[in-house]
Amino acid sequence: MSNIDRQPSIFTVQDASKIAFTLYGLQAEACPLPGELDHNFRLQTMAGQEFVLKIAHAGQQRDILDLQNKAMIYLAAHNPSLLLPQVCATSTGESTGLITASSGTAHFVRLLTYIPGRHLAEVKPHTPELLYGLGNLLGKLDATLQDFRHTAAQRTLKWDLQHTLWIREYFQHIAKPERRAIVENFVEQFETHVLPVLPTLRQSVIHNDANDYNALVSPVDKGSEPALSVIDFGDMVHTYTVCELAIAAAYAMLGKADPLNAAAQVVAGYHSAFPLSETELEVLYPLICSRLCISVVNSAYQQKVEPHNVYLTISEVPAWTLLAQLANIHPRLAYYTFRHACGLPPCPSTGALIQWLTSHASTFSSVVEPDLRTANTVIFDLSVGSRELGNLLNVSDLAWFNRHIFERMQAAQSSVGIGKYNEVRQIYTSDTYKVEGNNGFEWRTVHVGLDIFMEPGSSVLAPLDGIVHSFHNNAAPLDYGPSIILQHTVADGQLTFFTLYGHLSLDSLNSLAVGQPIARGTAFAKIGNDQVNGGWPPHLHFQIITDMLAKKGDFPGVALPSQRAVRLSLSPDPNLITCIPAERFPAVGLSAEQNRRLRSEHIGRSLSISYQQPLKIMRGLMQYLYDENGRAYLDAVNNVSHVGHSHPRVVKAGQEQMAVLNTNTRYLYDELVLYAERLCATLPEPLSVCFFVCSGSEANELALRLARTHTRRQDIVVVDVAYHGNTTSLIEISPYKFDGPGGTGAPPYVHKVPMPDVYRGQYKSSDPQAGEKYARYVDEAISQHQGKVAAFICESLLGCGGQIVLPDHYLEEAYRHVRNARGVCIADEVQVGFGRVGTHFWGFETQGVVPDIVTMGKPIGNGHPLAAVVTTPEIAASFNNGMEYFNTFGGNPVSCAIGLAVLDVIADEQLQQNALRVGQHLMDGLRGLMDRHALIGDVRGRGLFVGIELVLDRATLAPAPDQASYIVNRMRERGILLSTDGPFHNVLKIKPPLVFTAANADFLVATLDEILGEICSV
Ligand SMILES: Cc1ncc(COP(=O)(O)O)c(C=O)c1O
Repeated sequence: MSNIDRQPSIFTVQDASKIAFTLYGLQAEACPLPGELDHNFRLQTMAGQEFVLKIAHAGQQRDILDLQNKAMIYLAAHNPSLLLPQVCATSTGESTGLITASSGTAHFVRLLTYIPGRHLAEVKPHTPELLYGLGNLLGKLDATLQDFRHTAAQRTLKWDLQHTLWIREYFQHIAKPERRAIVENFVEQFETHVLPVLPTLRQSVIHNDANDYNALVSPVDKGSEPALSVIDFGDMVHTYTVCELAIAAAYAMLGKADPLNAAAQVVAGYHSAFPLSETELEVLYPLICSRLCISVVNSAYQQKVEPHNVYLTISEVPAWTLLAQLANIHPRLAYYTFRHACGLPPCPSTGALIQWLTSHASTFSSVVEPDLRTANTVIFDLSVGSRELGNLLNVSDLAWFNRHIFERMQAAQSSVGIGKYNEVRQIYTSDTYKVEGNNGFEWRTVHVGLDIFMEPGSSVLAPLDGIVHSFHNNAAPLDYGPSIILQHTVADGQLTFFTLYGHLSLDSLNSLAVGQPIARGTAFAKIGNDQVNGGWPPHLHFQIITDMLAKKGDFPGVALPSQRAVRLSLSPDPNLITCIPAERFPAVGLSAEQNRRLRSEHIGRSLSISYQQPLKIMRGLMQYLYDENGRAYLDAVNNVSHVGHSHPRVVKAGQEQMAVLNTNTRYLYDELVLYAERLCATLPEPLSVCFFVCSGSEANELALRLARTHTRRQDIVVVDVAYHGNTTSLIEISPYKFDGPGGTGAPPYVHKVPMPDVYRGQYKSSDPQAGEKYARYVDEAISQHQGKVAAFICESLLGCGGQIVLPDHYLEEAYRHVRNARGVCIADEVQVGFGRVGTHFWGFETQGVVPDIVTMGKPIGNGHPLAAVVTTPEIAASFNNGMEYFNTFGGNPVSCAIGLAVLDVIADEQLQQNALRVGQHLMDGLRGLMDRHALIGDVRGRGLFVGIELVLDRATLAPAPDQASYIVNRMRERGILLSTDGPFHNVLKIKPPLVFTAANADFLVATLDEILGEICSV
């Protein structure tokens, strides 16, 4: 379907240069460009100007070329802002020239300006903005061409969608019967739904071939919207204007897991530039399908003509795949989606239905007994962030869920519980709720019915007269079980809608017949138990449906967040019938927008938010975080949730201790000393005295005090780019901050030494002495300041520095120099401690050293604000100089109980071993990408502390921060959370909770592979 050159050109590049000179007076070098029938060349002059020389195939009619030229000239004159090829005149002022080939054939020649860019087909990903931009360009183009007329445009083309029926004669060329059936069905739709209304639609001259090879995406400045252009006006015709959009949308849908979503973006863009009528929107989807049908039938026929042309077979594959996808989409669902894209109510009849239901509210019978208008109901919060559901693991335990629901109802002495409409839930865990979208997996999470929890066997009553539309036992786990759909025709036959009753008892389906009348108030079914209702706590799922979309006995009760508006329009609020008083429903949480507004008002702006599209996180479980749409994100960067987000054992330890006692360290309680003993047992002698604090910063702050008191000196040696915390004295020893924006440089008593970076630094990994050589800088820094060093502070692997693994012997040698000067060695383990490095529990152990002070934070409390300093009895004794050290919260019983639970989980779940195994697997996978992606300069790390350094050039090591930022944002879109670090912000940082699995690592590597592939196409 693309314009790939399929025949050798009869013109050489020399011919093209000669023609350019003769006809246009241009001295230019030519290189061939693809062209289906024409011979196209790209010309470049000495001055750098670029053109496209188009030599028409012999036999090309002049008036068609004139149509194209005139249209391009008209567009340039009437809308110069459009990025389109411009027609260049010959030296004699003609827009079309004529040449004779050596074979004697005459050929028309045209010269157009060259539009730099890549074919849309080759650009990945097709972002919503890009697709919107395509639609917008075409909308503007068609709006401009509205009054353009040309006699040659009044022609009959096989690619003109109004003539779709011609393909019927060629159906026999489609070999596979199932494929033929798809095309036959779409053509029938065209005949019955499109043809009769076509004459009422507006007509104009259109481009008629905005396929993904004719749409160009031009390079733009950083941060700007992509610039789109369309080339090849060869199929221009006067026809129904909406065909333009149908063609572009058809190609924009190719290769998409969710084609409708992609098309909706193009439609939105088009509509914003050139508003579509409701009838145009109605025929759009069948027209899109028509274009694809013409395309596949055309290539099926061509294959008969050219049986050995492999290209024909290959090029039709994506179109067939798309047609098969579209065969499963009801045309009215597409219509509603397109209406929504244009800002219209998705389902046109819903407004009238809501009005009717509102004005007849008093006439409805209650769906259950007691009447929900007056009953004492418990309204449940089953939303993603629901506190009453607690840990996500509870919810997948259906027995727990069942107990919870009925215990709460019992406690409230209520026989009815309500689960809300339009609630985003995390409880739909089976694979039937998981769908592949255009950016990875999406989950159906939005509940579009009302749940009425009641004892099994409770009667279900018809709220108004209706007939049985359909019924079915949807028996899969977590599905509806037995369900009945009633059809209601109201407002003197003007309105038809449906009500769905799910999770019924099996015998509710006995002796029912389609079409059977069910009178208002009739008890026609019963609530089923968990044995038959899909495994759920007994309840009725009650839903209104405005359009069954040809379904029977089933209709989705939970929607994809991306289809929320359309699905809510298809299923308006069931409380229009049940009429539970609005004030019973508690207020819903803040929207992401409201949250951001309040944040900007009340939270200091010096705190940035991650990602271009910030995430509103509602809950976490192990290595996953869930956003407000219930989408799961693989957390590959949060080393704080060390043993997993909301790990149930850690949560339980904290909750249990908080329920009994929380006090300060001036009392005796066992948790403090038992925890101190356990923590010290992980450390080598003589590290045996603990101070508990509340943050890594506090830990480092105290470490400085310990060192300074012990040595009675003030000077500190720090490693470049290090970050040690947010207090005044820690900013002073953090080059990452004092050398960064807003920083004022190092104070005189802080001495910076280069990072021992064997990738980018002075001594490389090939130098076996690199560790010793980098350590010499520590010695030099001490000597330069008369040996008066209080402490050398260094992370055991460098975090902000860019996930750097220290070279062998670095700390050993550095510590030797420091100790020779009677300074103290501080190991900052705030990022890397507690088994993350896999081979050892502590990062410093990988260097074979024993520090004098170890500081711990982040992972120590799995997210609870706990941190610690552990030192030697000698240093602790120096600190005991009369000035008391007290910390109100540090070491409280709750923190200690949590700290103990973290140590238990690390040991019991063998997380250190997991870090080693999965970290190695991850690094192997990442290193495997290096052959394919030159952007990856280095993959380094230990265990699950991994860095990927991105460079523009592996020889010069020019950093690639823009690419790193692009990757982090794209990975987030694909459901993986990462971040960047390093002095040039070009290192992708991976430090997930230690429960990360090999499958998680594979997913990360595969997704990164795809996104790196996009980068060459941006
Ligand atoms: C190495 C290192 N030390 C100390 C800190 C400070 O810890 P906190 O933010 O808990 O105060 C951090 C925080 O990022 C860190 O990375």
